[in-house]
Amino acid sequence: MNLLITGATGFIGRHLCACLTARNYTVVALMRRPEDLPELRARVDRLGGNGDLIQALPGDLSAPGLGISEPLPHVDAVIHLGARFAWQLTRKEVYTSNVEGSLSVAKLARRLNCRLVFISGFMLENLQHLSQLGIDPARPEQTNWQKVYRRAGAYEASKLEAALKVRLFAEQTSLDMVEVQPATVAGQSQTGELDAAQPLYQLLENLSRGRLALVPGTPEHWLPLTTVDHLSAVIAAAAIGQNVPARLLCLDPDTPTLQQVLAMASGSLGIKAPRRFISLPVLRAILSIPGVPKLMNTYPEALHFIQAKRFDTANTERFLERQGLFRPNIVSAIEASAYWYQKQRISNPPVMRPCGENTSATPTPHSNEG
Ligand SMILES: NC(=O)c1ccc[n+]([C@@H]2O[C@H](COP(=O)([O-])OP(=O)(O)OC[C@H]3O[C@@H](n4cnc5c(N)ncnc54)[C@H](OP(=O)(O)O)[C@@H]3O)[C@@H](O)[C@H]2O)c1
Repeated sequence: MNLLITGATGFIGRHLCACLTARNYTVVALMRRPEDLPELRARVDRLGGNGDLIQALPGDLSAPGLGISEPLPHVDAVIHLGARFAWQLTRKEVYTSNVEGSLSVAKLARRLNCRLVFISGFMLENLQHLSQLGIDPARPEQTNWQKVYRRAGAYEASKLEAALKVRLFAEQTSLDMVEVQPATVAGQSQTGELDAAQPLYQLLENLSRGRLALVPGTPEHWLPLTTVDHLSAVIAAAAIGQNVPARLLCLDPDTPTLQQVLAMASGSLGIKAPRRFISLPVLRAILSIPGVPKLMNTYPEALHFIQAKRFDTANTERFLERQGLFRPNIVSAIEASAYWYQKQRISNPPVMRPCGENTSATPTPHSNEG
């Protein structure tokens, strides 16, 4: 099978390419910078895949017609991972890539008459959260999106808008579509490999640098996680498998509470774990003070993902069982991610600035992207 992937150069995309090419599937990667193909191939090789099985297709989610000018090879399925993923963006900055780009990818899959595997997010299954944002998934056309962008932040709002619009398009055109809804992504289950731009890496960074003296939320709050290798295997199964459910919620229900995750990570990092809590409304109020989010490296929109709600994953679990796919141990994966973070920190020690402000030599994640 030949799979067209958007976002192949990203954190999940690279692991997905490794997972697919290790099984001899070929990949066409839609790339804004096709000259980066050798680097992508090398990274995929290092992850245990076969980079030689990847070809680049020049393109851009933000461009009309996805900026594709070359003839397309035969494609069996399209996997849409590509998105502008960062906090503190504006609607204008994300709309063309995340919403219009997603619709263009769906139209491409329709034109190619193949399955679309669309990567949304687990928050689409938190109906109470959607309702608080003013979204009724059954009547998406009634949504005041401007309000949603203000309340949720541009990244999350664009993901919600894209998912609902692509679902509608798929329904109207009988597109074969599987929506994979990932939780926040943890590092590779064995090595803990995690990009510095990933939200979990930022959490570890904040913990390690003493910016997390209190646990956000209550003892019931959690940040649902899934490992990048398990997610890749689920996406691959969604693209290749038969009788795939229309939605796959990729979330490990055994993820410990946020307090427990921070305690485990603190153990791996050799630091004292935060014990006391700060309620989310109070934290949000503090983060509304200008300058504080940057100082704390925490943005109010990131807090939505920390919640007390539990999710029903039974449907996905049944599919995974049929596919012989089993979730790796999430506790070990969290510890491995913390060790990975620690290793990166040691190889990229803080750079002393003349004014006394310490900064890490690792790329500053999400909030500074773009
Ligand atoms: N990571 C998570 O915790 C998480 C959780 C739930 C859902 N997701 C979803 O999973 C997907 C992948 O996430 P990730 O963590 O792998 O993100 P990532 O590391 O930031 O990768 C984003 C990918 O999108 C590509 N991209 C961005 N803008 C583009 C454009 N205009 N045209 C073409 N490609 C573009 C990037 O390509 P360049 O190399 O050109 O920049 C990169 O390959 C996203 O849709 C995200 O919303 C992620």
